[in-house]
This record gives sequence, structure tokens and C-alpha cells, in this order.
Amino acid sequence: MIFRLIYTSMASASIKEPNIQDILKAARANNPNVDLTGVLLFHDDTFLQVLEGPKNAVLALVAKIETDPRNHGLIEIFREESEARIFPDWSMAYVPIDTALVSVRKVIESYESDVIQVSYGRMEDKTDVDIRKPWFL
Ligand SMILES: Cc1cc2nc3c(=O)[nH]c(=O)nc-3n(C[C@H](O)[C@H](O)[C@H](O)COP(=O)(O)O)c2cc1C
Repeated sequence: MIFRLIYTSMASASIKEPNIQDILKAARANNPNVDLTGVLLFHDDTFLQVLEGPKNAVLALVAKIETDPRNHGLIEIFREESEARIFPDWSMAYVPIDTALVSVRKVIESYESDVIQVSYGRMEDKTDVDIRKPWFL
């Protein structure tokens, strides 16, 4: 069994793409050492991250991220035990969601690139889709 936790947080005002690259660099360096995998989504100054692995490692990392000045207002969305990982091959996948895309329906692994590929659908009349919902599960 693995433990999965999904949270959302707000990016600090000053955060720019290079800061996100730094976060990913740390994640990809550290996560394999503690058997963590997951995905980080960034849209409209909001992060959403799925972390999966040993419970103590997931909780320790969330506690660390909570105090990271690059984000604030961290809210846990849910936690669960699971038989299998959703992102077994990703120390930390990254999905920068274009603001035009309001519904991401399916996350597909890409072995060619370190940016996960997404297939998506537009929802014409719903521009206020709440990214805090774990829509991809
Ligand atoms: C939104 C967000 C997501 C992060 N995700 C991870 C992660 O998956 N793994 C990780 O090691 N650090 C992550 N960090 C960075 C940690 O807060 C912390 O800076 C880092 O783990 C420290 O790494 P170091 O001890 O190698 O300097 C994240 C930070 C933010 C703001």
C-alpha cells in the first residue's frame, strides 16, 4: 500500500517560471531518495500537487512545502491509502496548464519529455472550473 495526498496552494506573488524549475529540480533530486512520485500542476497562480509514496515521507514533505515561502495557503484536498501509484514513473511530473484549458480530463505519461502530456477538453460555458477539485482521478 502507498499513501496519496493531494493539496492545493497559492503561488507567492513573485513566483515565475524559473522558480518552478527550481522546485522541480529539488523534487526530482530528492523524491527518488524517499520513494516519492507525483505530479505538480500550475495554473492561474495556483499549485495542485499529488504526492504518493510512504506515508511518513509524504507527510514530511508536505510539512516542508507548507513553510516554503514560494507558496502559501496550503489546503489539503484529500488523502488515501492506495494499492498502486498513479504516477509510478514520475519523481515529479509537471503540467503547466494553459489558461485557455479549463478541463483537463486525462493525464497521459510521456516518455519523451519531462513535461507530462495532457489531453483535454474545453468547457465553453464553464470558465470558473475549480482546479481545487481532483478532476483527474
Ligand atoms: C508547490 C511546491 C511543491 C514542491 N514539491 C516538492 C517535491 O515534490 N519534492 C521536494 O523535495 N521538494 C518540493 N518542494 C520544495 C520544498 O519546499 C523544499 O524547498 C525542498 O524540498 C528543499 O530541498 P533541499 O533540502 O534539497 O534544499 C516544493 C515546493 C513548492 C513550493
